[in-house]
Amino acid sequence: LKGHDHHMHKEIHEQPASLQMTLRGRVNAADRKFVLGGLTSLERQLPNVERALLFGCGSAWHAALIGEYMLEELASLPTSVEYASELRYRNPLIERGTLAVGVSQSGETADTLAALREVQTRGATTVGVVNAVGSSVARETDAGVYLHVGPEIGVASTKAFLGQVVVLAMLAGYMGRRRHLSDDRLIEFLEGLEALPDKVKEALETEQQMKELAYALCDREHWLYLGRGVNFPAALEGALKLKEVSYIHAEGLPAAEMKHGPIAMIDKGMPVVVLAPKDGVYSKVLSNIEEVRSRGARVIVVTSADDPELDQLAHDVVRVPETHSLLSPVVTSIPLQLLAYHAALAKGRDVDKPRNLAKSVTVE
Ligand code: F6R
Repeated sequence: LKGHDHHMHKEIHEQPASLQMTLRGRVNAADRKFVLGGLTSLERQLPNVERALLFGCGSAWHAALIGEYMLEELASLPTSVEYASELRYRNPLIERGTLAVGVSQSGETADTLAALREVQTRGATTVGVVNAVGSSVARETDAGVYLHVGPEIGVASTKAFLGQVVVLAMLAGYMGRRRHLSDDRLIEFLEGLEALPDKVKEALETEQQMKELAYALCDREHWLYLGRGVNFPAALEGALKLKEVSYIHAEGLPAAEMKHGPIAMIDKGMPVVVLAPKDGVYSKVLSNIEEVRSRGARVIVVTSADDPELDQLAHDVVRVPETHSLLSPVVTSIPLQLLAYHAALAKGRDVDKPRNLAKSVTVE
């Protein structure tokens, strides 16, 4: 474990290096290109791709939701995301030109594999976004891009989740380059990706603050995680991390949905974690923070903004570095992983082997 008490802690701290591996040889801002060798066999089919269908389970499904924003924004590709378990039991309509992307750390998740086989029989071209080399999903897809983050031992996914997000980002850029993405936006995105490992390293410096918050608040039974845009799925992932390793009840929501019902739950001191990087929806998120704060929530804000108004509004401000706006979930996720880890320890949980969970879910 090389100086770490748990695999989860080691894997959280490995992320600057594991993302470097994910990006290595694939992103080249100087040459303005993405090199995704695993997709070369699809070169002739790619011009016919008209839509993308992403599927997976758990954290992989959250990564896919972030991928949806990226594919739509960078590649103008209409994209939908499905739970693998739901996709397989519907009558999925696979139109011509559908690129179906299965996202899975293990490559052995039964529902994901079954969904893959289902869309394949219906004529989709399939791509795997997988960590485990030679796994079933990797073998059965037409093409793929490995995460290359190394083995993940902790049951709660951390470095594989971020690896999935980064691979989907590269896929979006790769598709964008073949479609409508301008050179300027392409270069900006490539540079954003290249800068990520250092930004993740900086975000890891939030650990002491997250540990103190975890110990101070771990007796609260219900938590909310809020975000908008790409940070909505990051909020879902933050809530899932807390649930699975600390067994505290948490829910992720799009920040603006609060007023349509969930805000009724807020009472004095309820922890609400808000993801508010400085991006196009920042001012909107500020109003959402006001809404929950005025109802008594204990507001923890993860942000890249240096804003006195925010300092006034939030009880705790957790600072992460600024990134390309589509890539911000990669840094906002770091303090949420650390919060979940320390909350689990504060509650005396077996953080690497949470009850009722297995690393790879090979039953339906
Ligand atoms: C969450 C977690 C699970 C997995 C899910 C899919 O931390 O580990 O939600 O993400 O079971 O697993 P893979 O990616 O192996 O298909």
